[in-house]
Amino acid sequence: MIKNVTVTDIYPTPIWTVDLDNNDALAANAYLLREIDKLMTPREALPPGSNWQTDPTMHRLPQFAEIVKLVEKAAIGATEYLNLQPRDLVVTGCWANVNPPGGRNKTHHHPNNFLSAVYYLQTPEAEDRLIFEDPRPQATVMMPRVVQFNLYNGNLLTFKVRPGRLVMFPAWLKHAVPPNNSKRDRISIAFNLMFKNYVEESSPALWEGTVTLDPGAPSNAQA
Ligand SMILES: [Fe+2]
Repeated sequence: MIKNVTVTDIYPTPIWTVDLDNNDALAANAYLLREIDKLMTPREALPPGSNWQTDPTMHRLPQFAEIVKLVEKAAIGATEYLNLQPRDLVVTGCWANVNPPGGRNKTHHHPNNFLSAVYYLQTPEAEDRLIFEDPRPQATVMMPRVVQFNLYNGNLLTFKVRPGRLVMFPAWLKHAVPPNNSKRDRISIAFNLMFKNYVEESSPALWEGTVTLDPGAPSNAQA
């Protein structure tokens, strides 16, 4: 007779969501939209489907210090969630992204960083999606028909976003933004975060002394 059945989710991929208080978000977003508009004025005409982006150095500008601080705080929370040793994660890149009508972001990831994040300033109605691809390369080898898509049987996760929401995720996770089918711009700020002292703290070998490797034993050690 069956005594017990257990399902274990292995290697989950975390996506963190931080929502600002509504009034705080309204004030912060109005301010940030003004500052971004100053950086992007004048704007050149765009080919269809393209976007405006600022330089990826907004984190060095004092007018964005508050939002950078918020994102770095969220990143510390993420490392705690992951149960990593305490360390500083710093914003290494920060840029505004404006999707005009028709604008989209093709599937991509953010190399050479540990975490990435997007903070939303303006999301036209029904144009409020961030799409994450299933990072498991073998997961689509078999795609049987499903009764209803869920986290186990889908391969594109649609994430709802809205002004005042920060979405943080592993920088290696591929994501995309579908075309903006509205008549208003969709505006967000993107961030990359990396360990401040990675070379000193994490690059040295994870073991010391002579080790004997057992080829049959499970391990997360470097070989
Ligand atoms: Fe991105």
